Amino acid sequence: MYKIAVIGGDGTGPEVMAEAVKVLRAAAEKFGFKYETAEYDFGGVRYQRTGETLPDSAVEELRGFDAILLGAIGHPEVAPGILEKGILLRLRFELDQYINLRPVRLYPGVETPLKNKGPQEIDYVVVRENTGDLYTGAGGFTLKGTPHEVAIQTSIYTRYQVDRCLKYAFEYARKQGKKARGKGKENTLGLVGKTNVLTYVYDLWERAFHEMGKKEYPEIRRDYYHVDACCMWMVKNPEWFDVLVTGNMFGDIITDLGAITQGGMGLAAGGNINPEGVSMFEPIGGSAPKYTGQGVINPLACICAMGMMLENLGEEKAAAGVENAVKYVTANKLKSMAAGKMGYSTGEVGDLVAQHLADQ
Ligand code: IPM
Ligand code: MN
Repeated sequence: MYKIAVIGGDGTGPEVMAEAVKVLRAAAEKFGFKYETAEYDFGGVRYQRTGETLPDSAVEELRGFDAILLGAIGHPEVAPGILEKGILLRLRFELDQYINLRPVRLYPGVETPLKNKGPQEIDYVVVRENTGDLYTGAGGFTLKGTPHEVAIQTSIYTRYQVDRCLKYAFEYARKQGKKARGKGKENTLGLVGKTNVLTYVYDLWERAFHEMGKKEYPEIRRDYYHVDACCMWMVKNPEWFDVLVTGNMFGDIITDLGAITQGGMGLAAGGNINPEGVSMFEPIGGSAPKYTGQGVINPLACICAMGMMLENLGEEKAAAGVENAVKYVTANKLKSMAAGKMGYSTGEVGDLVAQHLADQ
């Protein structure tokens, strides 16, 4: 019996979450596993009512689950940073979800803005470190409000953080790289950094990367990209990539670029993973408040995030079933991936995926 915490969150979060839970129910029936869900109302509405982002007991309570599903965090009437730091980042940090796994995969029938690229070319994964870097909150102001104001925000990495992230990425490349999946001649891990300017942090990453690769994963090809050049190749030659690993800030930025190349925020899913603890799966698109309550938002990213959760729980057949059902729906049903242009409502898209999953 899997215990799953469900946080619908803000804006369209609860709508896409309802569809992910619908598909979860279909998957459980089809593949014969059992689960129970517990819903939590963390988000902007609760914050406005209570002044509290996460109650102190929440993190401890969430540790008792097998996984967490998160819809979206972000409310137009709450100042930027409060909910993000108070809920999303706090959960990532306190549950030590040190990996943010973000596949960049173009599904059949989905339009990409990249010319002459299809599902063969756009098929890689970004392993974003999820606890360090500019996200630690280290920094501050002096002389605030004066013409000489100083603002400092510090990028921080420890060897321990870098090593555990690299280990996950190498293991992932070994098991899920292009060779392992029968899609290429070798498994490749590419480090994305900025060793020409960030000569401390990415020097550490680069040394640790080659040390670990040479010693423990010699069969995995190691590539290195400066982050700016990486953005260029993500557009021009995405087929070069297999598994990429990078720090938190660059990972945040390049995965939005990756998301648009795979058909937009309606499809991009991610997992905040603690390989030794409780992981949290979410669509990476945000709360899209202007579409709230209209039944027009695309739920596929949240459904795919739920599929990633199943894989992480060890329900690999069910996870593959969900992904296949999503591919069937993108290839044969949806007119567009954009909100309001799918040719179906949010609920109907969930029905289509659940139905195709059951019929497989
Ligand atoms: C993401 C988001 C978050 C991040 C924000 C909402 C704090 O952009 O998950 O990519 O920067 O990590
Ligand atoms: Mn982001």
